[in-house]
Amino acid sequence: MKIVESFGDLQKALGELKQSVGFVPTMGYLHDGHLSLVNKAKEDCGSVVVSIFANPIQFAEDEDIDNYPRDIDRDLNLLIDGGTDLVWIPTVKSMYPEDFQTWVNVEKVSIPLEGKFRPTHFRGVTTVVSKLFNAVHPDKAYFGQKDAQQAVVIKQMTRDLNYPIEIIICPIIREPDGLAMSSRNIYLNDQERQAALCLSQGLLAAGDSFQAGERDAEKLRHTVKNVIKKESLAELQYISCAHPETLKELEGNVETSLLSMAVFIGQTRLIDNVLLGNSKS
Ligand code: PAF
Repeated sequence: MKIVESFGDLQKALGELKQSVGFVPTMGYLHDGHLSLVNKAKEDCGSVVVSIFANPIQFAEDEDIDNYPRDIDRDLNLLIDGGTDLVWIPTVKSMYPEDFQTWVNVEKVSIPLEGKFRPTHFRGVTTVVSKLFNAVHPDKAYFGQKDAQQAVVIKQMTRDLNYPIEIIICPIIREPDGLAMSSRNIYLNDQERQAALCLSQGLLAAGDSFQAGERDAEKLRHTVKNVIKKESLAELQYISCAHPETLKELEGNVETSLLSMAVFIGQTRLIDNVLLGNSKS
């Protein structure tokens, strides 16, 4: 496995790879969710490139990127075991030199859900992913369904900017007890870790109710709310039942929909979602 930092070294190393190239962008502190993306890229492509870059411009000022968990040695060991060919670890300075002033902004689908509470987040994501795509030129790029809105926003950007890249969205990977894997789970103490199960349990309850024939969007949202309300350490920020592609909030009867939410467990903000009426969920 080759590890590079500069754009120049990246270009040289890319030239030595077998086609086709599968790309997994990450912010590091890898878990089985990331490794599932690497595995899928390995299955699909001749070479696998992973980037590790905790992207400062997708964090708001009060979101404290300095405390974002990092363990580069552990990450590299996991990537070697996973059969990654090339790891790119750009520096903040090389990505955002002092006079940096160009943004990629996807409009409509960045606005609701996460966008409502993190209004500068998605332009940070789309700007960095665009820069990463421009540098790596992958054939396929892999993202997790855990960040459901990010997946929609990146697909939109890829279409709108004519990137010749296939975007592959992989299923959420969960701990055995249902908690969706996230680098942020490390912030939870034992009590909070237990409390955090209310997210997946809320979604499960709504999924069961959907299976049993419930189709009303408000009732499905309500089922999740009720589960979260019972957990004293949890504070629901939003629960949404939206169209899975436009992300418009739905009312009345729904067939396929994205049920998604953000919940504070103590100081830690967690997100989770399920696609209802979709075999991939
Ligand atoms: O999903 C993430 O880890 C990040 O948002 C991404 C796509 C690597 C961009 O920084």
